[in-house]
Amino acid sequence: MKLLSTSKQDLEEASRALKAGMLVAFPTETVYGLGGDAFNPLALAKIFEAKQRPRFDPLIIHIALREGLDPLVDFSRIKKTVRRKLDALIDAFWPGPVTFILPKKPEVPALATSGLPTVAIRLPDHPVARKLINLSTGAVAAPSANPFGYLSPTRAEHVAEQLGDRVDYIIDGGPVRIGVESTVLDMSGDNPCILRPGGLPRESIEKCIGPVDLRAGTDYLPRSPGQMKSHYAPRTPLELYTPENMMALENHPGEAYVFFDRQSSEAWLSKQPGSLNPIIHILSPEGSLTEAAANLFSLLHRLDHDSLRAIHIERVPDIGLGLAINDRLYKARVQAKNISD
Ligand code: TXA
Ligand code: MG
Repeated sequence: MKLLSTSKQDLEEASRALKAGMLVAFPTETVYGLGGDAFNPLALAKIFEAKQRPRFDPLIIHIALREGLDPLVDFSRIKKTVRRKLDALIDAFWPGPVTFILPKKPEVPALATSGLPTVAIRLPDHPVARKLINLSTGAVAAPSANPFGYLSPTRAEHVAEQLGDRVDYIIDGGPVRIGVESTVLDMSGDNPCILRPGGLPRESIEKCIGPVDLRAGTDYLPRSPGQMKSHYAPRTPLELYTPENMMALENHPGEAYVFFDRQSSEAWLSKQPGSLNPIIHILSPEGSLTEAAANLFSLLHRLDHDSLRAIHIERVPDIGLGLAINDRLYKARVQAKNISD
């Protein structure tokens, strides 16, 4: 694996690698992606191998310009009313943290879509990602750059640590801005439906196009494997609590307590006997969901290195980015429960 900067020269080297079928991890505004040429089945196969990702879990194809949709999407299979909504969403939120599921053209390799008749497409809001895509073939398949089921990477170091030589290049663009993956919105049926809550809040989508369904986190079959119950997980057992239940916890040495804001951490701390020095972390001192999302995976990565016996986390409010944060925490918790198997 070779680490690259974001210089023009390095991005050119990375784009040559992509065109040659190699894998390049790169920053986006949500999390780091593990990129391969979307039209090269061998490169796609390498992505699945590097991540040890099951083949039934399709990839997101990243484009750099709106026109990048044309070679990928069969617009004739999108209803007129849905098409209008899609156009409005693209105008409002692309480039940005939303992925659309759309009917695919036959030219899109089946490996990218796991044989589904639809394809996931995103135009990331990150200059490095867009430059790289533009310099290569204009369509880069990229799942989050982590081994399947593990925490998503929000820094180049996370990718290096987790994938090492399973990736050819890593472009270091510093820490990401948003910190949770894109919202996956299915636009292939009659009604838009959120399959994975993410960086674009449901409220913003609904303000733009009216009500959308939400099928994430239910036992609805994995049309979007991000919906699988266990995912995004650290290796350390993790438990999720309502604010009230969190308050009732007693401090145990070797276990970490993660609070949403300063207020709740102070309330909890005031109930603990002074001598014990609990391990406390706060996602956002002032209670900002944006800041909490940006800190979430980095903090879990750090805590996962600390050989803790357990991580206890307080749920955040279920609004805005809170829906995506709670979704990831819930899945991390289920995964942690399965580790003892
Ligand atoms: O923010 C993000 O979306 C990041 C960055 C790198 O762009 N990427 C990412 O990719 O999170 P990945 O592969 O980890 O998640 C893609 C999600 C999965 O839940 C997958 O099942 C779903 O999108 N997906 C992809 N194609 C689909 C399809 N045709 N129908 C339904 N879900 C699909
Ligand atoms: Mg992922």
